[in-house]
This record gives sequence, C-alpha cells and structure tokens, in this order.
Amino acid sequence: MAKRGPTKKILSHPFRVARATKVTIYCLVVTPQKSAVSLAQDHWNETPLYLSEEDRYSTYPWLYRVAEFREHPGERVLELGCGTGCDLLQFANHGAIATGVDITDSHLELARKRVGGTATVVKADIRSMDFEDNSFDYVYSHGVIHHSNEPKKIVAEILRVLRPGGRFNIHVYALYSYFALWRWLQYGRRWKFYVENSTSEVHIDLYTGASLRRLFHPVRIQIRKYQAKPFELLAPALGWYLVATGSKPVIGNSEL
Ligand SMILES: C[S@@+](CC[C@H](N)C(=O)[O-])C[C@H]1O[C@@H](n2cnc3c(N)ncnc32)[C@H](O)[C@@H]1O
Repeated sequence: MAKRGPTKKILSHPFRVARATKVTIYCLVVTPQKSAVSLAQDHWNETPLYLSEEDRYSTYPWLYRVAEFREHPGERVLELGCGTGCDLLQFANHGAIATGVDITDSHLELARKRVGGTATVVKADIRSMDFEDNSFDYVYSHGVIHHSNEPKKIVAEILRVLRPGGRFNIHVYALYSYFALWRWLQYGRRWKFYVENSTSEVHIDLYTGASLRRLFHPVRIQIRKYQAKPFELLAPALGWYLVATGSKPVIGNSEL
C-alpha cells in the first residue's frame, strides 16, 4: 500500500484542517501587500527628505535651469509630489502662483513651514486630484512618478489639469544610468533599497526613453538626461534623471 505523505495525514483530521486553515488566514492577515502610496507615506514619514536650498541646488546643479523656476511669473504652476517644498518655493519666489501637492504628512508639514504664505500646499494623491480641468499653465514634478505603480493615471491627471497648450516638465529615474549600475554593483539584487533616504521599502520603477514615450503616448515629449556626478560629461547618455517635457495638445491641432 502506498504511504500517505505527512501533509495528507495532517489534513485528514477535521481539527487539524481547521488549524491549518487558521494558520493560512493568520499569515494572510499579517503580511498584507502594501500599496505604492502606503509605502511612500511610511518611507517619508519615517525619514523625511529635507535639504536646505543651498544643499539641494549644489547637489543638483542643473535643476534650477531645467525646472524653469524663473520662467513662470504670473502663471499657475502645479508641483506634483512637492516633498518639503524647496522647488515649490523657487517657483513662488519668481512670481508664479504656485501650488504643491503631496501625500505624506511629514513632508506636507515641512513644505508649509518652508513656503509660508508664498505658495499653496495641498494633501492629495496625484493619481486623482480635485483641481478643475485646464486649471494650470505648467505642471512640474521631480523624483515622484517612478514611485507610483499607476503612472498612466498620473499622466492622465497632468493632461486633465493643464490648459490646452500648457507645458509639463517631469523628472524620473533612468534605467540606463551610472547610478543604477553603481548601486547594483554595490548591493546586487537588493540595490533599490539603497536609493532613497532609508532602506525601508518604497516602490521604484526605472524608465527608458521608450517607456517614457509610451507612458505619455499619444502626446509627444522631448527627453533629456541629467546628473552623472562626478562624470557630468556622461550625463546625456548615463544620467540618473530622465526629464520629459511637452505640452497639452490644443484641440483642433492635429500635432500631438
Ligand atoms: C523622493 S520624494 C521627492 C520629493 C520632492 N519632489 C523632491 O524632489 O524633494 C517623493 C515624493 O512623492 C510623494 N508621492 C509619492 N506618491 C505620491 C502620490 N501618489 N501622490 C502624491 N504624492 C506622492 C511622496 O510623498 C514624496 O514626498
């Protein structure tokens, strides 16, 4: 007679079946999958990302020009994932009517302190915001969209809240970059845990020019790469930030 395996034996007794089921249910309860938004909130509530203006723009020397902080006086500017408000403050200081949104309480609090009354800071999930259609002239975001597993929804929101002809300027992490390679050489498969402020888990997607174009399709974008410290000459090929710029199509204009 064939021997019964240990699993079958355990499950043959009704009490044991109940116990095994209980164990399974318990495991499901204690290890729920966290959403990308919860991971982001937990990560930055534990370790907020706060840099002085001096530190930020010496760490990212290209950012002041590329973000166009000086170029939107009088315009309605929306920053997605404004963090602790450093970039938001630059837009406001140069005369923009600036609004920043974020989902993490500690960042929102630090952003409000930093910008004072010069800009509006709103708690919102950038996948679905309460702003009216066509209500901004310029939408900017640095280092945020790659933390979402639903970037298509964010792009749809960018195009909804921008006025026709309004421009966007979006910065995401690049797959083909010196930094990704360096971290991978240092930490192997777990390298993504060593990208942000702490090693607590956070969702990170890496983009290529082609995947960014697919994300914004059918809207056409221009792409540049930045940041390859200390080998800045390599930035156009191996930079850590991919910057996508483009405009919301004007209805009736066949040029997307
Ligand atoms: C790496 S930080 C960057 C913050 C800021 N842009 C900067 O460069 O310092 C990412 C930010 O995105 C925010 N974030 C992530 N997912 C979000 C979402 N779905 N809605 C709103 N904010 C989000 C996080 O709360 C965090 O403040």
